Amino acid sequence: MQMKQMKMKSYFTGTILLFIIVSPSVAIVTPSPPPFFYVFGDSLFDVGNNNYLQYPAPKANFPFNGIDYPGNISTGRFGNGYIGPDYVAMFMGYPQSPPPYLSIINEYQTSRGINFASGGSGILNSTALYNSGARKIIVLGTAKTGCIPFIRSLLFPISGGCSEDLNNLSIQFKNETRALLQNLTPKLSGFRYVFIDTYEMDSLIRANAHQYGFTDLTNACCGIGRFNGQAPCTPISNLCSNRDNHYSWDPVHPTQAVARLVSNMSYYGLLHVFPMNIQQLVNA
Ligand SMILES: *[C@@H]1O[C@H](CO)[C@@H](O)[C@H](O)[C@H]1NC(C)=O
Ligand SMILES: *[C@@H]1O[C@H](CO)[C@@H](O)[C@H](O)[C@H]1NC(C)=O
Ligand SMILES: *[C@@H]1O[C@H](CO)[C@@H](O)[C@H](O)[C@H]1NC(C)=O
Ligand SMILES: *[C@@H]1O[C@H](CO)[C@@H](O)[C@H](O)[C@H]1NC(C)=O
Ligand SMILES: *[C@@H]1O[C@H](CO)[C@@H](O)[C@H](O)[C@H]1NC(C)=O
Repeated sequence: MQMKQMKMKSYFTGTILLFIIVSPSVAIVTPSPPPFFYVFGDSLFDVGNNNYLQYPAPKANFPFNGIDYPGNISTGRFGNGYIGPDYVAMFMGYPQSPPPYLSIINEYQTSRGINFASGGSGILNSTALYNSGARKIIVLGTAKTGCIPFIRSLLFPISGGCSEDLNNLSIQFKNETRALLQNLTPKLSGFRYVFIDTYEMDSLIRANAHQYGFTDLTNACCGIGRFNGQAPCTPISNLCSNRDNHYSWDPVHPTQAVARLVSNMSYYGLLHVFPMNIQQLVNA
């Protein structure tokens, strides 16, 4: 149990989640193809890199992960179906996220983007990633980490309450990240960014849960123990029958329904996106 808890903790060790859009510099004939798309982050964005890594890298390439992915395939995504980078890629005009970096065996696969996200990874030296030509970046804050089933089951097993300490840390993180991006803008020529305030989006969804179709904000759909929050999703875990009305898929990660909603708000929305939404950044 102790080991499982350590393993789950490593899923959200304060990684900066990042999308990078690179517009080709050549003139484009219509219809213009979507811009190149690179993804960096942790298990929230991993589409299979960890399948290629050894223990103790956390993995999700087994049921019930992927139960709502086309063909009921466990791709390595920590979720029941598509995840955030898939939806953002779809909105850009791709079928799903670019391929996991570690799956790439020929140049053709990398032609329009790569997903470098890896479950359990820590904060990257991500600003290097400007020196290699990136000019448009999308940075995400952390959501209400104090409200995930893993934390509720660990700290508030009776009441099921959220950890306000952890939520406060998320607020500090987003405040400082947003300020950092604002300060970088005048220093880097041609640099454009979008900051997605996922903390406020998460708060908005939780406060209006029924309107968005969620009836369970507390229990993970797939997991074991209190709030299904005490062990990861595996073939022997409990599994809820309706994934779409649950906020959390497993003790740590949200459901496909949440990923779709947050991606939609980030791409097309007007609230909690600074200074513009992703669609406007792509077209800028
Ligand atoms: C998906 O696959 C799992 C494991 O193979 C199986 O238990 C489950 O019934 C399948 N679910 C659906 C909806 O096909
Ligand atoms: C980040 O880059 C700096 C400067 O190159 C280096 O000293 C540091 O070790 C790097 N940090 C990580 C976590 O790789
Ligand atoms: C969270 O932050 C608010 C405002 O900064 C403060 O009033 C509150 O005491 C903090 N709560 C915890 C649990 O740290
Ligand atoms: C975050 O920023 C808001 C708005 O500037 C401020 O009111 C709040 O106190 C800050 N909270 C923390 C925890 O830094
Ligand atoms: C995105 O949101 C709009 C407006 O609520 C909705 O019409 C559309 O179906 C959503 N798209 C997806 C993929 O969820």
